[in-house]
Amino acid sequence: MMAGQATFPPPFKTLFSKEQLHTRLAELGAEITKDYQDVGEDLVLIGVLKGSVIFMSDLCRHINLPLSMDFMGIASYGDGTKSSGVVQITSDLSKPIAGKHVLIVEDIIDTGLTAHYLFDNLKTRLPASLKMCSLLHKPDRTEVETPINYLGFSVPNNFVVGYGLDIAQKYRNLDFIGYVEE
Ligand code: IMP
Repeated sequence: MMAGQATFPPPFKTLFSKEQLHTRLAELGAEITKDYQDVGEDLVLIGVLKGSVIFMSDLCRHINLPLSMDFMGIASYGDGTKSSGVVQITSDLSKPIAGKHVLIVEDIIDTGLTAHYLFDNLKTRLPASLKMCSLLHKPDRTEVETPINYLGFSVPNNFVVGYGLDIAQKYRNLDFIGYVEE
């Protein structure tokens, strides 16, 4: 190996393979397609930057409806490993969502604090409906209960990485979800 070259991918344990992710996304997409069949052109997917970008780009191709997409940048303050629930919008939606059927697309719900903030914030903008789709959920870490209308997988209390999820901004481009062994 050349000096400065890092091993890639690092030795993460696989939690969900590329194939498992593909299968689950196809199921979620079919469920969402069925549920939003009658909303016409008014379905808006809102991706929460940056973790949901890979999930959202694959998921939207399994939804056979004329949807639109927007993104919201969120910074959550905490001690580095734990979110405090104090959330700042770093980049807001590009368009109003009043009267639209909004589906928030998240990478992972951990304590639930970010999702809770998002629900409260987006509700004030008077969407016709507001639901949550999250790829992952860590039920053991819940501090605030938030509805998850569409869930990919529940995961144990390990730090997970890949397929959009990062460690210090790295490894979002892994095509599987892995975890760091304690
Ligand atoms: P919450 O507010 O505690 O629910 O935190 C949600 C955010 O924390 C997610 O959108 C992720 O960006 C980040 N996060 C929580 N757990 C993990 C993890 O295991 N891997 C990577 N990011 C995580």
